[in-house]
Amino acid sequence: CVRPGRRAGGHGRGAGRSLPMPGGQDPLRRVLVLDGVLCLAAAAALVFYPSLLFGGYFESFREAFQLNSGASDAAAGAVRLLRALSAASLGVFGGILGCAAVPRDSAFLPSRRVCVASYGTLCAGLSIVHCWGLRGGSVYRSEGVLVHLCSCLVLSIGNCGALLLSFMATEAWRTEPGAAARRREAPRVIESPLLGSAGAEELPRGGKEALLEDEEAGRPAGGAEGYKLLLSDGEERGAPVGGCSEEAGVSAPGASGEEGRDHGWRDLVRLARPQRYWLAAACMTLLIRLPFSLAIPHFVSATLGAVIDGNGERARWNILCLVVAGTFDSLLDFWNYFLFGYAQQRLIRDLRTRLFAQVLGMEISFFDATSSGELTSRLAVDTSEMSNDLTWVFRFTIESLVRIGGITGYMLYSNWRLASVALGIIPVCSVIGKLYADWLHDNAKMVQNAMADANHVAQEALGAIRLVHSCSGEGAQLFRYSAAVAEYYLLNVRQTAMQAGYYMIVNTFLVNTCVQAAILFYGTHLALRDNLHPQVLIAFMLYQSQLQEYTSNLLNSFSNLIKSTGAGAKVFELLERRSQRPGAKDGEKPLSDPGGMAPFLKFDNVKFSYPTRPHVPVLKGISFDVLRGTKVALVGPSGSGKSTIFHILEQFYEAGGGTITVDGVNLESVDDEWLHRKVALVSQEPILFSGTIEENILFSACHDVPPREFLDNLKNVPDELAEWRDRVQDCATMANAHGFICTLPDGYQTEVGERGVQLSGGQKQRIAIARALLIDPDVLLLDEATSALDSESEAVVQEAIDRATEQRTTLVIAHRLSTIVSADKILVFDRGQLVESGTHDELMSHPIPATAPQNGGQVTYRLLSSRQQGQSIAAAGSSTA
Ligand SMILES: Nc1ncnc2c1ncn2[C@@H]1O[C@H](COP(=O)(O)OP(=O)(O)OP(=O)(O)O)[C@@H](O)[C@H]1O
Ligand SMILES: [Mg+2]
Repeated sequence: CVRPGRRAGGHGRGAGRSLPMPGGQDPLRRVLVLDGVLCLAAAAALVFYPSLLFGGYFESFREAFQLNSGASDAAAGAVRLLRALSAASLGVFGGILGCAAVPRDSAFLPSRRVCVASYGTLCAGLSIVHCWGLRGGSVYRSEGVLVHLCSCLVLSIGNCGALLLSFMATEAWRTEPGAAARRREAPRVIESPLLGSAGAEELPRGGKEALLEDEEAGRPAGGAEGYKLLLSDGEERGAPVGGCSEEAGVSAPGASGEEGRDHGWRDLVRLARPQRYWLAAACMTLLIRLPFSLAIPHFVSATLGAVIDGNGERARWNILCLVVAGTFDSLLDFWNYFLFGYAQQRLIRDLRTRLFAQVLGMEISFFDATSSGELTSRLAVDTSEMSNDLTWVFRFTIESLVRIGGITGYMLYSNWRLASVALGIIPVCSVIGKLYADWLHDNAKMVQNAMADANHVAQEALGAIRLVHSCSGEGAQLFRYSAAVAEYYLLNVRQTAMQAGYYMIVNTFLVNTCVQAAILFYGTHLALRDNLHPQVLIAFMLYQSQLQEYTSNLLNSFSNLIKSTGAGAKVFELLERRSQRPGAKDGEKPLSDPGGMAPFLKFDNVKFSYPTRPHVPVLKGISFDVLRGTKVALVGPSGSGKSTIFHILEQFYEAGGGTITVDGVNLESVDDEWLHRKVALVSQEPILFSGTIEENILFSACHDVPPREFLDNLKNVPDELAEWRDRVQDCATMANAHGFICTLPDGYQTEVGERGVQLSGGQKQRIAIARALLIDPDVLLLDEATSALDSESEAVVQEAIDRATEQRTTLVIAHRLSTIVSADKILVFDRGQLVESGTHDELMSHPIPATAPQNGGQVTYRLLSSRQQGQSIAAAGSSTA
């Protein structure tokens, strides 16, 4: 039977990474070649369409205004040359596409091949017609603006479609099994979006591949072995455990504890790299759309100009053009909006997944110092804020730049003097915009931190709601929360006031009032003195409002981008933080003891302080050893460091000195994940996940797939499902949990609630024991596992544990000494030191020290034992009374 979640290819670094290369040429290369050709075709098309369109306009203007100066002839010649060159190159690329450079053995469907081939042929055909027309000069003379618009639209939609198809093929290829291994055949120099130029340095073996793979999947670099995450749409994404591990061999900025470097907008833009195809498609539709929407004010002014001139036919023709341009504009607007929104959602999803994977891989001390409320705020709020601003920045920047360029050209062409009045305001607005953006950046950092603080308070209070109610602490918690929210509120009010001031000065006063008045003033002067046609003034008024709108959009998107770098500072810090998680070094180590007598676990002069309190020694040079298959008990007063020993053994923390060996192998070089499959811990405070009892017991065995999905997957294999259910029941029986589970109405399918709130402490503890037994561990660590049980249950569980621990090395922490009398060895701890060791009988033969521990004397087993006996006699006495 298969262990749930066990990866094909075994454990450890490099497992499953050596898939053989299939015979023949790498089809990915051909997909990439196709991609390249399409990109070049798109670039040629980007020159071709506007030149085709504006060339058409240019001819129409020449006819309309009877422009026949030498300069306009030269301009017409230049436009024709540009058109000829781009049409010719488009033809060449189209020809290549027509020959179907589409890989046969790739994930391309036949229908897609037909589409791309027909598009290529269409491009080639159209380009030949255009070249022929340019040579003979016959096509363009008979063409009207409408024909230009239609041919532009056909080519543009075709081009977008082909690019999308190519993208889909590449994506399909990438997600195909074994693609990662094939890609590694040809390593490239990588520039990591996270590590910047550091990523391009020579990395140790494996680091480069890991970086390459991780980057392309849009997840943090490093990590010895990624695990798969099943996303909601069924797409599979890998994500590394451990985030940027030591293995990557790259010193990332913002390493643990350090304040991360200041992140610029470039770092933010790099985050969007995995969405480049979608953003490119969205930008393409935007660019195709722009000529149509840009032309609308021209047709409006031309219609009004024709009315002023009394030319009804010209007015009707311009209205028709307006309707056609407006229709195309609105049709393309859908794709424009949708594609940007789609890219944004993908960006948010990937950023959140990547951040969560990074957080999951952090060392335990990171969680000692960082609240879960803050982390959920980073995941939920900051990521969406960043992605939101980032996506729209692409749209507004490109749209605004193109529109501003087009409008500026049109204005300068129409009347350069009036144009200089309209354009003169842009530098002033830019300076104000830059100052505003810098202020927003700093404020946004504070806003996001205030939000995280408020989330932390709420989460902590709601997580301990029983305690809050039992202490009637609602008022105190409300006070904390309202103080945190007030901080957030004040910062936002400040931001709103600044925003209002900015819009008042830039948008309303400078742009809407001053510039409009200046254009009208100077325009009427020119109309009265220099006979400027009123149509030009109307066009200026219409275009200037667009110009100002897009100038402020450009400035806003820039300031939003800068603001996002402030809001995302903590997210970047988390993404770039290198996990200090110990272990995960050399892969699987044999846990065998050929001699049978050599120490299985050995602590040699181990010292330790918790990272959050580095100056408080918790373990002060502990040395002991444990033989294979023996049961060792750890006893001592509260706070003496017993649980800490378990934490170090589980590699939650790294020892600060001395060595720990497991079967002769240094614990530091034992693979972290493998260790956790072999060593099971039942902790002092049992923790359950929301879900059923069965899922909670299965949790320890499900490494890559959640228990619910694991059970769902097994529904098609009834035998295996039944086998797993039997194992769950056996473990529950061993942990003395089967009885109480059967009394519940839904049995093993009973929901336990968040953190198991719907069960009693003892019931949770027994489920936790069953969960630990399910993986059949070599080493069992029981941290007061029976402390929450009543004496009857304790006896039964103790017996079950004794049975389960017969063949296992077991370390037990116990306060009730009666439960560990049979232990092979008892270790007595006091204030971080090992003060006694031996069997029960040996330790009981030691004398009770004369000085009590509270007066500086030492704790001994005999002392603890006599105290407990005294307590139990007193308890027995009081119950009799
Ligand atoms: N995450 C932590 N960060 C900082 N200090 C800690 C942390 N966990 C425990 N300590 C401190 O380390 C010391 C040893 O704690 P430990 O939990 O090992 O004690 P223990 O012997 O298991 O006690 P008990 O029997 O009460 O469970 C205590 O003084 C405790 O305050
Ligand atoms: Mg403890």
